[in-house]
Amino acid sequence: MTILALETSCDDTCAAVVTASGEILANVVSSQGVHDRFGGVVPEIASRHHLELVNAVVDDALARAGTDLGDVDAVAVTQGPGLVGALLVGVATAKGLAAARGLPLIPVDHLQGHVAANFLAPAPMDPPFLCLIASGGHTLLARVRDHRGYDVAGTTLDDAAGEAFDKGARLLGLGFPGGPALSRLAADGDPHAFAFPTAARVAGLDFSFAGLKTALLYKVRDLGEEEAARRAPDLAASYEHAIVEALMARVERALAADASPRLAIGGGVAANRRLRARAEGLGVEVHVPPPELCTDNAAMIASARAGRTACPTRGTWRSTPTPPGPGAARPEPCRRIAPR
Ligand code: KG4
Ligand code: ZN
Repeated sequence: MTILALETSCDDTCAAVVTASGEILANVVSSQGVHDRFGGVVPEIASRHHLELVNAVVDDALARAGTDLGDVDAVAVTQGPGLVGALLVGVATAKGLAAARGLPLIPVDHLQGHVAANFLAPAPMDPPFLCLIASGGHTLLARVRDHRGYDVAGTTLDDAAGEAFDKGARLLGLGFPGGPALSRLAADGDPHAFAFPTAARVAGLDFSFAGLKTALLYKVRDLGEEEAARRAPDLAASYEHAIVEALMARVERALAADASPRLAIGGGVAANRRLRARAEGLGVEVHVPPPELCTDNAAMIASARAGRTACPTRGTWRSTPTPPGPGAARPEPCRRIAPR
């Protein structure tokens, strides 16, 4: 069985060809660098670029896989959460391909995709495990019990972890996306130079990063422009340390409640060296997919199709994009994605 998958939830136009056993035949990602100059993703620009790129990206994925639409057995697509206009391009393209070929269309939740990146060959991790997803749009702690779904253990109350990196980087005068730049600057700094908050008072397994961002803003103001520039590596290192500790404190709490604790990490922030080192020091089995499967990609969407019901091929497709949370009118696919 060969699955063609599309992912267009944010600013990456992605298509992949994956086998039923999780072998990736092609995984094409076209990143829209056009947003960097605006310091963040501009939704309307993202949609228009997806529209221009999506057919070429699908063609490229099929060609790299050495196959064509005649060999595809199902089409999977990210239904949400994400930018609605961006999602619309992927969903409409997937519907068109499925309709033209009479193939099943499988709508997939983006976060289930990040979790399912851990199931892909050549080094899959089989459930059960605890999974931390930390990206620019999401922070999620999930208890993954099987290949079909997961229970949400914790989620962010405000900013996502990657967003906290990006906003901190902006305060320090670094570019977008800020995570990698802030992390590079932090390598020369002292992580204990400044005591930034780690939301220690937020009970349970939920995350909060808004206070941390404000603390950095006030510290930069207090120091003044010149001193803040001189101490930038220390500020970056202490800020990065606070984000990592806030994430890992919840991970440790969750693992303590597990009989046989194992941890998987995904999302763009999984590229962070301090986070990886801290996770590897936990003394439990830790799985981190390769970087290209941690950031947004369509192979993870193909992987997440397992256990999802395909839409009927003709007539009654109700698959429409779901808008971003929290608080938005998002169905509850993540509490328990798979029908039992
Ligand atoms: O998963 P991703 O590629 O896209 C989203 O779905 O958001 O994650 C992008 C996020 C950005 O916020 C970026 O700053 C962050 O991941 N990021 C990092 C690092 N590399 C990417 N954050 C910290 N350290 C890094 N090395
Ligand atoms: Zn993502």
